[in-house]
Amino acid sequence: MNKKYLYINTIGCQMNVYDSEQMIRCLKPLGYEISQSIEAADLIIVNTCAIREKAEHKAYSFLGRLPGLKRKNPDLIICVGGCVAQQEGRMILGRIPYVDLVFGTHALNRLSEHIRNISLKRCRIADVEMTREIMEFSSSGVPAACDEVSKFVTIMRGCDNYCTYCVVPHVRGPEISRRPESVIEEIRELVGSGVQEVTLLGQNVNSYGIKEGLCSFPELLKLVNEIEGLFRIRFTTSHPKDLSEDLIAAFAGLEKLCSHIHLPVQSGSNSVLKRMNRKYTRELYLEKIDRLRKISPDIAITSDVIVGFPGETEDDFKATLDLVKEVEFDSLFTFGYSDRKNAPAARFPDKIPDNVKNERLRELLELQEYYTLKKNSALVGSTELILVEGFSKKQDFQGEQEGFTCVHWTGRTSTNKIVNFVDENSLSGDSTLIGKRIEVKIEKAFSHSLLGKPVDSKPMPVGVIGEESYAA
Ligand code: 5AD
Ligand code: SF4
Repeated sequence: MNKKYLYINTIGCQMNVYDSEQMIRCLKPLGYEISQSIEAADLIIVNTCAIREKAEHKAYSFLGRLPGLKRKNPDLIICVGGCVAQQEGRMILGRIPYVDLVFGTHALNRLSEHIRNISLKRCRIADVEMTREIMEFSSSGVPAACDEVSKFVTIMRGCDNYCTYCVVPHVRGPEISRRPESVIEEIRELVGSGVQEVTLLGQNVNSYGIKEGLCSFPELLKLVNEIEGLFRIRFTTSHPKDLSEDLIAAFAGLEKLCSHIHLPVQSGSNSVLKRMNRKYTRELYLEKIDRLRKISPDIAITSDVIVGFPGETEDDFKATLDLVKEVEFDSLFTFGYSDRKNAPAARFPDKIPDNVKNERLRELLELQEYYTLKKNSALVGSTELILVEGFSKKQDFQGEQEGFTCVHWTGRTSTNKIVNFVDENSLSGDSTLIGKRIEVKIEKAFSHSLLGKPVDSKPMPVGVIGEESYAA
């Protein structure tokens, strides 16, 4: 079989990262290998995101760069997948003549069939059919491509919550959970190829399995916790209204579960929460935070906030600032509200002007910056257990140390904080620390990372710490 090259541009959330990996696996039997060079590609896929206006623009501006490549290589196949594909469907084929395939969020497992047809017949296809079944991908003899220590595993798809600002239920369809056996089998396979940490993904993992009468999410966590060789478990995202006592208890009871929860609050104002259809109040949210901190005092809590939701008054915004002060999040993702096609809030009155939105965003970010730095600074002098994932992307610390180029390794704490460090034994980067569990003494705190030194120059052997001696 001729070797062919596949270039994927993944925009958006971790779920898209996972889906792109499934695409790579599906296309392997057709002879496609991943390429970092877009010029060398025989097949280009843009896996799109529709959550906010900005992400959608990103997809179109990427597509705008491709006509030259298609002119140079008329056999090049160009595909648009993901949420924008699902939302716009056939319209994309009409608007962009050099796109060959539009495949929606439920068409992933038909991708290789479509590519085969396009190669043979040079036809153009739009497949945005939604199904009621969860997509399962058989490994079909293709080994999981694992040179990484941490991987995402989607445990459910879609969403039934219909928050009024959100496009997800419209582009990903209703919530469907995977069977626990296939989740466990996939994680076992990943662990077999060297993975030590998994992040379980779903729009709202807290309601995993309920609709289908499968096990609950805390029960699934328990099963994952039992997988031998796995070191750490993370999950995202949790809807506050569905955060159960059992799940809160899991933070104390499951030793592999990391001490971090991402719990999007969206707003601190009850009237905004109501119009967002979030189905909880500020008081209920604060109560859940209290419960989490009682069970797991050191748990890191992060959140999402939307600023400038239609009708958000100065008082509503102040209520959000007050909530941020009260909770003291470890970090916060802040978004300016944007209208989304099909989401009800697009038709709500009293839209907030961009200049007001931007000013509120700036104020909120400045406030959160203070708490992020406060939380990070509190770790200076402590020793943190890190799972090393690779080299630091930001090479701003890179410099000369005693005549050697110093390499910064990077990993995360159980609380999901990025720690960069130099290891004296691997100054030249010859010996790899990737996948090692290392204790690092934190020396400096920044707003997005920590800097430290390994306490023992010898990395801890895999399997020695973790299961027994490391409590999440
Ligand atoms: N405008 C701005 N932010 C949004 N989000 C979702 N929809 C919108 C929108 N229309 C944010 C929410 C969500 C995060 C993933 O994206 O905060 O939690
Ligand atoms: Fe969107 Fe709300 Fe579902 Fe999250 S819970 S994906 S914000 S509809």
